[in-house]
Amino acid sequence: MKRFLIVLSVHAFSFLACAGEVEIGREIYHENCASCHGRDMQKPGLAFDLKVFPKAEFSRFQNSVANGKGSGMPAWRGKLNEDDIQLLWLYVKNGP
Ligand code: HEC
Repeated sequence: MKRFLIVLSVHAFSFLACAGEVEIGREIYHENCASCHGRDMQKPGLAFDLKVFPKAEFSRFQNSVANGKGSGMPAWRGKLNEDDIQLLWLYVKNGP
């Protein structure tokens, strides 16, 4: 019984940690990305609709965010680090 409780609390903790990381990703998004991609990823206008970004393509996401894309998407290398990009990905992947 004791062992069961320990396992349960470890899982509860990692769930909370995940939820917290998505929240941090949301904040980074709203500071840096929402002006073009839309508040809560709604109404992206001319920018890419991040709600439909393929969820299996993390390396494409990482590359586009770090290096920019086309004439409209700025490069964030130097402004955001790898951890920031991972947190952004958690937010984009999990949806608004
Ligand atoms: C100045 C406006 C602007 C800002 C700010 C901006 N983007 Fe973009 N983004 C664009 C535009 C425009 C495109 C479409 C680029 C193209 O395909 O030519 C785009 C495309 C993308 C794509 C798709 C790239 C692909 O592989 O097709 C991703 C992912 C993305 N943006 C993520 C982000 C994230 C994350 C942020 C915040 C760190 C951000 N963008 C901030 C304008 C912006």
